[in-house]
Amino acid sequence: MLTIRSFEIPTVMKHGLGAINALADELRALGLKRPMIVTDPGIVKAGLLERATRPLDIAKMDYVIFDQIVPNPPTTLVDEGAAFYAGEGCDGLVGLGGGSALDTAKAIGVIASNGGQILDYEWADPQPIKHRIPPLVCIPTTAGTGSEVTLWAVITDSERKIKFNVGGTALIGAWVALLDPELTLGLPPAVTAGTGMDALAHAIECYTCAYAQPISDSVALLAIEYVARYLRVAFAQGHNIEARYKMSQAAMLGGLAYGKESAGAAHAMSQSAGGVLPNVPHGPFTARLLGPVMEYNFKGEPEKFARIALAMGEDIRGLSLWQAAEKAVEAVLRLTDDVEIPHIQAFGFTEDQIPMLARIAFEDPQTIGNPRDLSLASYEKIYRRVFEMGT
Ligand SMILES: [Fe+2]
Repeated sequence: MLTIRSFEIPTVMKHGLGAINALADELRALGLKRPMIVTDPGIVKAGLLERATRPLDIAKMDYVIFDQIVPNPPTTLVDEGAAFYAGEGCDGLVGLGGGSALDTAKAIGVIASNGGQILDYEWADPQPIKHRIPPLVCIPTTAGTGSEVTLWAVITDSERKIKFNVGGTALIGAWVALLDPELTLGLPPAVTAGTGMDALAHAIECYTCAYAQPISDSVALLAIEYVARYLRVAFAQGHNIEARYKMSQAAMLGGLAYGKESAGAAHAMSQSAGGVLPNVPHGPFTARLLGPVMEYNFKGEPEKFARIALAMGEDIRGLSLWQAAEKAVEAVLRLTDDVEIPHIQAFGFTEDQIPMLARIAFEDPQTIGNPRDLSLASYEKIYRRVFEMGT
């Protein structure tokens, strides 16, 4: 069968210190008269919403605020947001926040352009999304998810206790990603660590998975370099603007590596487990899984793992290919500990849940494409290792 690979990104990427001050100009350039800002109460409390609305007020621009976003956004919230958007007569969107706010903004856009409710758009072949979302400007306030450039929205189905994916098409992509590293200066160390490690997980999983191709490899490698060099600094010095800038870029590059493909076992595990305990934060939980998953995976793609070790600043001179590949695993485990990612027990999981967690991970679509073949037993083995590390 003929396979043609493609890489597509519909999003204009803009970045700079204070970039958020250009928001009114950006929205006007998109032809918007009444955008809806999608954000969460934490962003409002932190004063970041005001950073977005101030330029709009100065420009005397009309807008509507939907600030009800919660972590791991459920279907009901997306549908509610879409009804609010329609009822208020909005003509475009601003996503402001972490991955949940940006994903919800994208998902609301899908309904605004395609009708129905978000459950109608769970990824399937043929693609249920037919029309491009309305103009959307995504402004991340963390440096990790890369949602501002990915072509996915991850939504929680509370009834099925799973997270499902909407997208996998350029039709869901933000129109503009506006990266302002100043917005991340106030992030607490634990959030910096968890989100930054998520960016690393995107880059490493996408670099080593079956969907990898030269263009995604190139952005993934630089994302890995940046996280390895700057995450510890951003964690230790929240005010360090260079580290924040580089981490913002790393998150975007990791998101580009993701594109419209899937990641691998760490994301299959974190996404499926996140459906069981909806309060589990995606970033740090994925981070805790990444090292053990790499420990399992490195045998499948030794050259690529050796290259990851190099990108992480490891000295691999004089080592065999296999030793060099293992260096990548060690480097990630060390970084995970250095930025104080909690162990799995701290997220509320217990060892008796391993068979269940392994089963739902095995059923997750991101299992496909992992660099080493996976079975139910292999997921159980990885989970046992993850628990063992926390004892
Ligand atoms: Fe992620």
